[in-house]
Amino acid sequence: MGTENRGSHADCQVANSSKLISFSLLSTALLLDTIKKGVTNTMNRPSPIDEEYVFDNGLIISSTDLKGIITYANRKFCEISGYAKDELQGKNHNIVRHPDMPKAAFQEVWDTIQSGKEWTGVVKNLRKDGKYYWVYSHIAPVINEDETVGYTAARRPASATEIEESIPIYEDMLSKESN
Ligand SMILES: Cc1cc2nc3c(=O)[nH]c(=O)nc-3n(C[C@H](O)[C@H](O)[C@H](O)COP(=O)(O)O)c2cc1C
Repeated sequence: MGTENRGSHADCQVANSSKLISFSLLSTALLLDTIKKGVTNTMNRPSPIDEEYVFDNGLIISSTDLKGIITYANRKFCEISGYAKDELQGKNHNIVRHPDMPKAAFQEVWDTIQSGKEWTGVVKNLRKDGKYYWVYSHIAPVINEDETVGYTAARRPASATEIEESIPIYEDMLSKESN
């Protein structure tokens, strides 16, 4: 009886310590995953290279939640940005942000869509391989029963004229921001 008791106590200790080990391993895995995601979101950005990725047809479609986290990316978005669907979904839409784009341009986007209106404009985006691509973008709130539940964007290739007109405007805005 006494031996049995000691035995079951020891078993219990073994079970508890293996639970503890599993818990520690799980916590470490979760921590590493969080660090990895944080690094990809903030630090591991592609270095821009001065080479345009030209595309001349198709519509790039994406949807986001209210914070700009991508909830849907169509095949064209994957093809043009160079990312796989699961690299885009769940990430902030700024994953394709190009450093040549001024902050004020996106402030205008957010002010417009958060006030329930649609925004159209030309955007220079960054591909995973560092090249850039220009789009003419239409971003709109998704409204369900009078409530904005997210945002959606459709883009076509920007025309040469649209690009030529946008470059000096964005350069000027950017130089004001860096002063
Ligand atoms: C539906 C939707 C589509 C967007 N599309 C782009 C895009 O193509 N490129 C981009 O740089 N930002 C896009 N944005 C804006 C980003 O959410 C973000 O505000 C921007 O990249 C600036 O990054 P920052 O907020 O980290 O400064 C989009 C936002 C929404 C809601």
